Amino acid sequence: MVTKQKNVWYCSECGHKQVKWAGQCPQCSQWNTLHEEVEFVGSPRFQAQATTQNRPLRLKEVSLAETPRILTHMSECDRLLGGGIVPGSLSLVGGDPGIGKSTLMLQLSNALAKQGLIVLYVCGEESVEQTSLRAQRLGIDTDNLLLLNETNFGAIKLHIEQANPDIIVVDSIQIVYKSEISSAPGSVSQVRETATEFMHIAKGRGITTFLIGHVTKSGEIAGPRVLEHLVDTVLYFEGDKQHNYRMIRVVKNRFGPTDEIAVFQMQTHGLAEVTNPSQIFLEERIKGVIGSVVIPTLEGSRTILVEAQALVTDTVFPTPSRRCTGLDQNRLALLLAVLEKRMGYQLHRCDVFVSIAGGLRILEPGIDLGVLIAVTSSLCNRTIDPETTIVGEVGLGGEIRSVPRIESRIKEAIHMGFRRCLIPKRNLKSLPSDIQAKISITGVDNVEDAVNVLIH
Ligand SMILES: Nc1ncnc2c1ncn2[C@@H]1O[C@H](COP(=O)(O)OP(=O)(O)O)[C@@H](O)[C@H]1O
Ligand SMILES: [Mg+2]
Ligand SMILES: [Zn+2]
Repeated sequence: MVTKQKNVWYCSECGHKQVKWAGQCPQCSQWNTLHEEVEFVGSPRFQAQATTQNRPLRLKEVSLAETPRILTHMSECDRLLGGGIVPGSLSLVGGDPGIGKSTLMLQLSNALAKQGLIVLYVCGEESVEQTSLRAQRLGIDTDNLLLLNETNFGAIKLHIEQANPDIIVVDSIQIVYKSEISSAPGSVSQVRETATEFMHIAKGRGITTFLIGHVTKSGEIAGPRVLEHLVDTVLYFEGDKQHNYRMIRVVKNRFGPTDEIAVFQMQTHGLAEVTNPSQIFLEERIKGVIGSVVIPTLEGSRTILVEAQALVTDTVFPTPSRRCTGLDQNRLALLLAVLEKRMGYQLHRCDVFVSIAGGLRILEPGIDLGVLIAVTSSLCNRTIDPETTIVGEVGLGGEIRSVPRIESRIKEAIHMGFRRCLIPKRNLKSLPSDIQAKISITGVDNVEDAVNVLIH
């Protein structure tokens, strides 16, 4: 077998490959993320041979017996994964360093080990002592959890063969390396190659595997995004470390819905599940503050009430500043343009800051109207009734478009004690009458309507 070596450039953000260096990655537009690596050409992995075990099957030959899922009995995790872990699946758990990946995976390992499953926890990042100290702090005590401090893939594979575990956790994939590959551990080729090996182990032996990947800013180390296409499930930690709350979002799931979110609270004995996130996101809200609006938003299968805060001030610079956290910058620009056009506000003379309190990141357009009203509130120096929640998508013409699952949004508002809900008029007809008895509902058609109802 002849193996040739070839030098290529890989983007550590998105894994894009090209033969020349460039300052900016043409795929993800990040700067200085291309790094030179050696690539193997003609390695045996690419030499496919037709085998009798893996012949093509007719559709009706495929047995459809649904494999039972493994329940973690951590209800938030089970919900997040679409009803438990699929045996033999490969998952990626990504997030910033220190956000709680190891903590969560150790708790999950414990939950699984307690059911009698053998869990092999490969702690390459930390020593066995460090990991077991953490395990002690988390109150973990089980004989089925095996800790292995090893970063060489070949050695890990041998241990897997010996221990024959049901579950493997690799903490982290960026530290595991294959000695056959000359590029450094953490490089795109190493991370991809070792992850592919783990995929073969997961699929070939039916071992459920979790790969932890940290999001890095250094650029030298390949980020977890490089592996997204390879795995079945991708979970990302969201929010910042300053908050006690950790959100985990499913961005990809071959066996269940995406965009599902779970909220945890970091405590001394580990991550505790938060069953009522609305309460937490509204916890620090001061009622009746200018620029504050409560919005019922959808996160996967659940509704969460969040607070949008806006601050509008006169700008001292020729170009006004628009900053936002927790929502899309372009979306904000669009909403400001609609406000200028429809309401005649002089927003081009103002700096606008908008944030979603609590560190949640929302991409759903249902928050449009709430954000727009928060901006208007700050601009006009008028408070919005603190007992009112606002939901609706805003179109370019200033029209308020209907939003999905209006009923569950209103129910959450009722549940949290709100008395009034401003919704798109188009959503009114689909509402059952019993819900209208519990909360006052106002339908609005366009931005002017909404501003008139709430402010003027
Ligand atoms: N003794 C402790 N008591 C409470 N929380 C702790 C303690 N030690 C660490 N933590 C929390 O655990 C976090 C580290 O989590 P970890 O799972 O190691 O993150 P990751 O693996 O994502 O880097 C820290 O940010 C801190 O909030
Ligand atoms: Mg860790
Ligand atoms: Zn890129």
